[in-house]
Amino acid sequence: MKQVFVKDIAQHLGEEICLKGWVRNIRHSGKLVFIILRDGTGEIQSVAFKPDLEEETFERAKRLTLESSLILTGIAKPHQKLENQFELAISGVDVFQLAEEYPIGKKEHGPDFLLSNRHLWIRSSKQWAILRIRHTVYYAICEYLNNNSFFRFDSPILTPNACEGTTTLFDLEYFDEGKAYLSQSGQLYLETGIMSLGRVYDFGPVFRAERSKTRKHLTEFWMMDAEAAWVEHDENMQIQEELIRLVIRTVLDKCDSELDILERDKVALRAADAPFKRMTHYETIEYLRAKGSEITHGSDLGAQDEAMLTEDSPVPVFIERWPKEIKAFYMKRDPLDPNLVLGNDLIAPEGFGEIIGGSQREDDHDLLLARMEAEKMPIADYQWFLDLRKYGSVPHSGFGIGLERLVTWMSGIHHIRETIPFPRMIYRIYP
Ligand code: 4AD
Ligand code: MG
Repeated sequence: MKQVFVKDIAQHLGEEICLKGWVRNIRHSGKLVFIILRDGTGEIQSVAFKPDLEEETFERAKRLTLESSLILTGIAKPHQKLENQFELAISGVDVFQLAEEYPIGKKEHGPDFLLSNRHLWIRSSKQWAILRIRHTVYYAICEYLNNNSFFRFDSPILTPNACEGTTTLFDLEYFDEGKAYLSQSGQLYLETGIMSLGRVYDFGPVFRAERSKTRKHLTEFWMMDAEAAWVEHDENMQIQEELIRLVIRTVLDKCDSELDILERDKVALRAADAPFKRMTHYETIEYLRAKGSEITHGSDLGAQDEAMLTEDSPVPVFIERWPKEIKAFYMKRDPLDPNLVLGNDLIAPEGFGEIIGGSQREDDHDLLLARMEAEKMPIADYQWFLDLRKYGSVPHSGFGIGLERLVTWMSGIHHIRETIPFPRMIYRIYP
């Protein structure tokens, strides 16, 4: 018999079908057994009614345990009580494996227990909803890029040098070539790609040996870096804004029931799909100090400052034109003030913090070299990067989105560790 996915059940009402999946829940009373079957695409209540079944089939249904894998045969029907929902009137129960007692129960488990059982935890409905949102965010980002002339250009993960400063590198011995490092961002390589393809992006895992034990940090996370020739600072922010707004609309459109499972405030999410605010770093500090923060000019924002900044803003806020000392060497000097660079961070509302880091890049060979020398960088290792400023340099800009930060915000959940199948944090590498 043909397998039907739970999501497609409405097209099969009245037909005898078979569903393949796992037991999410089971309860019985007298002549009835209610099985909630989940198959990856959704969940459905399935009812075994004793008088309609052979004794043996009914007993098999009754003995099922949580998470047992099975094939159910039956007639698809509208749900007896709930509108727009369906159920299966069971005619056959074919058990593939009767599961042992499932360790994740209905009682509250601590985060440590759940993380140690992450390989099982991902089956629970909240985790299922978050992983589906992650999938949708990923495709919405690619859709925007593909529709706006960006080509996928995969940057390497094993690299000979740092992109975002040397303090947070994971290193390893690379044969006879000495130390190699796991990439922190593909940006520098993407800058080479624009000279071939015009606009490029990568999307893959990046690594940071950060000792930050916060709800926003992972040591392995997924980054989308985008880079575009002939795009300057303002247009760079415009692209970031259009992309994020498409992601918001796509998640609202495609993940309505997932957002319900997570009890996400959809009104707040919808409100973020409006023109973003732009403030300079200087204005940001003034604004925060006026609100009572003790932050000083020239310094980076902490998590509390980021939350305070967006407290009264339903839309994300760009912080632009940063003091050069606290930003990376590759950012272009602000023509209006040599102490500043044309960088931007994008801060999500509702306290979700920084989701994007971007900038216009320094395209002048001598200015870039001087900056690198001032930072005592090993120039020979970056000769290829400097070459780009010798052979047809162009104004160009780009940005990097932390996928898990964006998914945390879309899902409205507290901790970033639930947005990736297997989170890597300072104190966790299992499973
Ligand atoms: O701001 P970052 O460090 O920017 C770059 O790496 C640039 N090279 C990107 C570029 O211009 N192509 O990182 C970009 C984003 C941050 O805004 C944040 O969303 C995320 O990556 N991120 C992290 N996410 C999870 N865990 C961490 N430890 C993160 N560090 C940064
Ligand atoms: Mg940043």
